[in-house]
Amino acid sequence: MQFFSGRFKEKASHLILDFHSSINFDKRLYKYDIMGSIAHVRGLGKQGIIPVSDCELIEKTLREILNDIEEGKITFSIEYEDIHMNIEKILIDRIGDVGKKLHTGRSRNDQVALDMKLFTKDEIVKVQAQLLDLLEIINGIAKENISTYMPGFTHLQKAQPVSFSHYILAYAEMFRRDFIRLKNAAALADTSPLGSAALAGTTYPLDRNFTSSILGFSSPTWNSMDSVSDRDYLIEIMNAFALIMVHLSRFCEEIIIYSSNDFGYIELSDSFSTGSSIMPQKKNPDAAELIRGKSGRVFGDLMALLTTMKGIPLAYNKDMQEDKENFFDSLDTVKGCLAVFNGMIHTMTVKKERLLAAAAQGFINATDVADYLTEKGMSFRDAYKIVGGMVAYCIDNNTTFEEISIETYKEFSPLFDKDIYEMISIKNCVEKRCTLGGPGKESITAHIKFLDEFINESESIVTDYKLNDIL
Ligand code: ARG
Repeated sequence: MQFFSGRFKEKASHLILDFHSSINFDKRLYKYDIMGSIAHVRGLGKQGIIPVSDCELIEKTLREILNDIEEGKITFSIEYEDIHMNIEKILIDRIGDVGKKLHTGRSRNDQVALDMKLFTKDEIVKVQAQLLDLLEIINGIAKENISTYMPGFTHLQKAQPVSFSHYILAYAEMFRRDFIRLKNAAALADTSPLGSAALAGTTYPLDRNFTSSILGFSSPTWNSMDSVSDRDYLIEIMNAFALIMVHLSRFCEEIIIYSSNDFGYIELSDSFSTGSSIMPQKKNPDAAELIRGKSGRVFGDLMALLTTMKGIPLAYNKDMQEDKENFFDSLDTVKGCLAVFNGMIHTMTVKKERLLAAAAQGFINATDVADYLTEKGMSFRDAYKIVGGMVAYCIDNNTTFEEISIETYKEFSPLFDKDIYEMISIKNCVEKRCTLGGPGKESITAHIKFLDEFINESESIVTDYKLNDIL
């Protein structure tokens, strides 16, 4: 059977078949295509457009085809271009003329728009589940490291002391925003284009509310021309994916630096590290590097789809078929990276002593020495200048704020007293910073509690999720 045989006299060249066929990548939509067809055929029957007995036979056969695909019994052919025509062809092969009625009042344009939305809704929840796992892992590490003091950096120069909890919870906030971004973007995929047909709806009295609701959408779309050519939601989701990769990549960059010999702040487990083929001593953070590297392709996928979409006139154009490889690649990359990343940080060791030792160097309590003078009545600018001089003195004399005598302190300012040592201990420097969102114990504990609540509340989005009851 040739779908276009009425209009075309010559057979398609093999070149063009190869070129425009999408079956090799859109076959992964098979389940959603069958779901959409079942909804459509039920709608046709309900509205009396085709006999109910035909609908039942079509639905039964579609279910059998689904089974056969899942059991690996079906080979698709590029001759039938894409998953939509391949399945329709198999249906017609099996039940003849009745099968030919399925495509009544439908076009591949609303069909593919529908399939992609169903697929996307299902997949986004999986990524959200991975993000929640990650948040849980991070929060677990945070709970164990409230008093693990470490240097905080700006410009990759030691700046002020923080705790490992405070540090890692910064990433929790990034991934929490990613979760929310995905939730918002997924809402844009939640409208059904089925019934928009090629671009202008159809003369058949389809009940679009009925098919939308049995497919689990919140409502049908409002404009048939937009419905078949809207790929905004994919771009939004790919944007959310790109940001996930930005965050993973930044985290990986730090894991690479922090696990290096010179830092030694963390150690990756052997199971998430690799060796060198020549240097026996090496333990490399390849997984972190690969995740950092893979961010490039996810950004590229986003740019590619934005560029593809920018000049397309209404309504459907074949350019839009390019959405799939970009979106699938971006999705698979993000899912793969999150799976590895979650395992990698779940099994890493936080080197508490090393972090504390690093915090004791680099004058990271200099601001606190200045704050001490300010508390005693000096203006911050004057205090800043005095402490700057003290840092220079310490560097020249190879000493630290902790080591210089109280007499030396007093030479810099008579306002210094013995309590200075206590005031500038790393522990104190962190714990005094108790502003909301700061590293102090109280604010960290509140943040951890907030995150636990966020995870609990969000879990239902994942656990209660069901696309629809069609299958
Ligand atoms: N394989 C096509 C795609 O992914 C399906 C829609 C084709 N429609 C058409 N009129 N050629 O976009």
